[in-house]
Order: sequence, then C-alpha cells, then structure tokens
Amino acid sequence: MAKLQWKSEYSVGNAAIDADHQGLFALVRELEDADMTDGFLDTIIWRLEEYAAGHFAREEAMMRKGGYPDLEEHMAGHRAFVEWLDTVKITYRRAAESPFEIGDMVNAFLERWLVEHILEEDMDYRDYIVKS
Ligand SMILES: [Fe+2]
Repeated sequence: MAKLQWKSEYSVGNAAIDADHQGLFALVRELEDADMTDGFLDTIIWRLEEYAAGHFAREEAMMRKGGYPDLEEHMAGHRAFVEWLDTVKITYRRAAESPFEIGDMVNAFLERWLVEHILEEDMDYRDYIVKS
C-alpha cells in the first residue's frame, strides 16, 4: 500500500482529535520503515496502548457530550481495537512468531484501521462534536 498521509480533508474539526489521528498515521509510517530490531515492536505496542487509552477516551467523551446517536456502535469498534492489541501482546510475549511477522500483522491491521475507522467511521461523528 502506498504510504498513508494524513490530509486536512480527514479533519474531524477538533484539533486534539486530529492530532491523535496524525500521530497514528505517523506511527504506521514508522512501522512500515522499521527494521524491527532493538525492541522496536515493544515501543510500538506501548505507544498503541497509550494511543488507545488516551484517544478513545477523548473521542468517546466528545461523542457522548455531542449526543452522537451511534456512540455504542463506535465504542464497540474501539473495544475491538483494544482486544486486538491484547492479542498482539500475548502473541509477542509467547514469541510464537518473529517480530517481523508480528510487525507485518500489526502494520496490515493499522493500515486497515486508518482507512476503515479513521477515514470512514470517525467521519460520521464530525457534526456532533465540539469544533476547535
Ligand atoms: Fe474512533
């Protein structure tokens, strides 16, 4: 896949949320270029955990405040991400697969997430959240 670059048309109209999304795009680009040495995957997993904890809570609070009607469905998508990340951690800890294989799997999932979640599902709440 060609490298995904965040564009202004992907904005949800809120600077904090856009900054989170831009950070995830940057992480995916780093991951594409990574050589997976020196515990790089540990760093990626840790950063994804931080991302999920901070960003999903921010988004959900804004959607709730704005009365977004599909909040529950959207939150289910976030939960699926967290569960996926737990599976990645378990697989990595067991060293069942090499960091290269896990890195490829993480990369493929995140590329799909950028397209299907950020560029599609997150766009649906745009009109309900506080603009900044
Ligand atoms: Fe979201």
